[in-house]
Amino acid sequence: MESQTIQVDHCAVRKEKPKSDQLDFGRIFTDHMFIMDYSDDLGWHDPRIEPYQQLSIDPSAMVFHYGQSVFEGMKAYLTAEDEIQLFRPEKNMQRLNNSNDRLCIPPIDEKFAIQAIKKLVSVDSDWIPEAEGTSLYIRPFIISTEPYIGVAPSLHYKFIVILSPVGAYYKEGINPIKIAVENEFVRTVKGGTGEAKTGGNYAASLKAQEIAGKKGFAQVLWLDGVEKKYIEEVGSMNIFFKINGEVITPELNGSILEGVTRNSVIQLLKYWDVPVVERKIGMEELQQAHHDGLLEEAFGAGTAAVISPISQFTWNNNDSLIKDGKTGAIAKRLYDTLTGIQYGREKDPFDWIVKV
Ligand code: COI
Repeated sequence: MESQTIQVDHCAVRKEKPKSDQLDFGRIFTDHMFIMDYSDDLGWHDPRIEPYQQLSIDPSAMVFHYGQSVFEGMKAYLTAEDEIQLFRPEKNMQRLNNSNDRLCIPPIDEKFAIQAIKKLVSVDSDWIPEAEGTSLYIRPFIISTEPYIGVAPSLHYKFIVILSPVGAYYKEGINPIKIAVENEFVRTVKGGTGEAKTGGNYAASLKAQEIAGKKGFAQVLWLDGVEKKYIEEVGSMNIFFKINGEVITPELNGSILEGVTRNSVIQLLKYWDVPVVERKIGMEELQQAHHDGLLEEAFGAGTAAVISPISQFTWNNNDSLIKDGKTGAIAKRLYDTLTGIQYGREKDPFDWIVKV
C-alpha cells in the first residue's frame, strides 16, 4: 500500500475562509478530502484527494442500518515559523486499527494513512488558522458501504479524511466547565464497544447530554455501566482528579477510550515527578475527598477539548464546587506544556511531533 500513489484532483474554486479568531468547533470544512475504497477482492485501493463534496452512497449501505463505522480525531498546528505539526499521529492510527478490529472492519496501513493525512493537510495548508488556540482538526473515518441489509460485516468500505479549522470545543473556551454525573443512562459496559472510537458510543450518549445541557452543564460524567459507582470518562474527553497531591485517572478497563491526550498527560506528569496513578475511582471516594477538602483539581483531556478544567460536578442533586471554581495549577501547566509542544513553542522531549 505504501507504494500506491495518491492522485490529487484540485478543486476549481476555493471556498472563502473563516476569520481565525471567530472559530468554534466542527462546522466549516476545507476544500479537499482524502478517500480510499475497500472491497473484499481488491483490499484498500484507489487512494485519492478530491474536492470536498457530497458522497453518493446506496441507501442500503450497511453503515446507515447497523452503524459499522469508526473515526479518529487529530489536529494540525501552525508554528510561529509557519511549519505544520501533527501530534502523535501514529497513536491515532493504531487506535483506528484497534477500533477497526472491534467493529470487524479490515485494518488500514497505518504508515500509509499518515502519509495520506500529511498530503491532504499540505494541499489545504492555507486553511490552518493562526489565532491563539486554533488548529486544523483532522477527522479520519471509515464507513461500511456494501448495499446489503443483512447483519454481517460489510464487504465494502470507504476510508475518508476531512479537515475543519477549529477553535475551542466548549463554548466556555478555556474557562472551567460544569459537569453532571450521569445516574440514569450508561454509555457502555465492559465487553461492549466503549474502548473503540465508533459512532454508536456517541449516539448512546446524546440523551443524557441533551438533558444535562438543558440544565446548564457542558458535559456528562459517565459511570461504569454495571454498578454506576466507578468513574469512567466525560462525553468527549478522559478525566483526571488531583486528590491530596496525587493525580488520579480511571484505569483503562475495556470500556474507557484510550485517549492520546490522556496518555500524554500521564507521561508529562511522570516526567515532572508529579505522582500519577491509573486506578478505579468511585464517586463516593471523590465526594468524600471533596468533603474533606482534599480534592484539589479536576480536568478533562482530549484532542478536541485539549485540557479542560472542571469547576463543578453535580451528583444526586448535590453541587460540588472544586476549590474556588478556577483553573488549577496542574491543569494550567499541562495546557501550557501540551499546547507549547503542539505549536512548537516548547521543546518536545518525547518526540511526539511529526512535521508535515
Ligand atoms: C476528539 O477529541 O478528537 C474527539 O474525537 C472527541 C469528540 C469531538 C467526539
